[in-house]
Amino acid sequence: MVEISLPGMKMLYILGNWKSNKTTAEAVLWQQSFVKNLPPVLESITIILCPAFHHVPVFAHKSDAYVLGVQNISLFDAGAYTGEVAASMIKDDVTHVMIGHSERRKHFGETDEIVAQKVKRAVAAGITPIVCVSSTGQAKQLSVLAPEFTNSGLILYEPLFAIGSGKSDSPENANAAAGEIQQIFPSAPILYGGSVTHENVKGFTDQPYLSGVGVGGASLDPDKFLSLIRAVLS
Ligand code: PGA
Repeated sequence: MVEISLPGMKMLYILGNWKSNKTTAEAVLWQQSFVKNLPPVLESITIILCPAFHHVPVFAHKSDAYVLGVQNISLFDAGAYTGEVAASMIKDDVTHVMIGHSERRKHFGETDEIVAQKVKRAVAAGITPIVCVSSTGQAKQLSVLAPEFTNSGLILYEPLFAIGSGKSDSPENANAAAGEIQQIFPSAPILYGGSVTHENVKGFTDQPYLSGVGVGGASLDPDKFLSLIRAVLS
């Protein structure tokens, strides 16, 4: 990856969350197209790709254009927990893990306590947790239940109405929420997520309390995701 460093720039994160999508063959095509067409990216931008578990071999250790994450980990360590992937099992392949996405809270019953336990697992395995919150209250709970998080992870703030709806929050509202969360976690980068596209991304990355974006739908097509990255660079 060609990197250009500009002094005085804040570190920005662009996270692609594929959710429950794509076959292995589709992931291979996406990876090849993405790496081939990625423009020179500033040293101050980190692209975090979070595909599904079975895509990990397609992405891991294949390119320095991005860092790799997954969308969930087990509540438990490795052992007799059928169907689960423990943090200690994937620590050699990924650097990041999303924890507590609102879809996991809604469809899989993840509570603040479960989120906190998963954060502890990630931190113990040396994987950076990206904790998803849809309110300041969830961020407060995280600070109480998982003090390990402080200084070790990122927050992805995603208001529920904006996820997958095509109706993003306004950059100003998102910045105000991020400012409140920053009071709780003074050193955590805070990202906004919810219907981010190449058309609105710059409005978010330009906000003082926002250090990047989480992108669901617009990360599934490599060309759309590349347009979004180009928009951040513009
Ligand atoms: P969306 O999803 O970009 O499709 O709204 C964002 C997310 O849930 O992380």
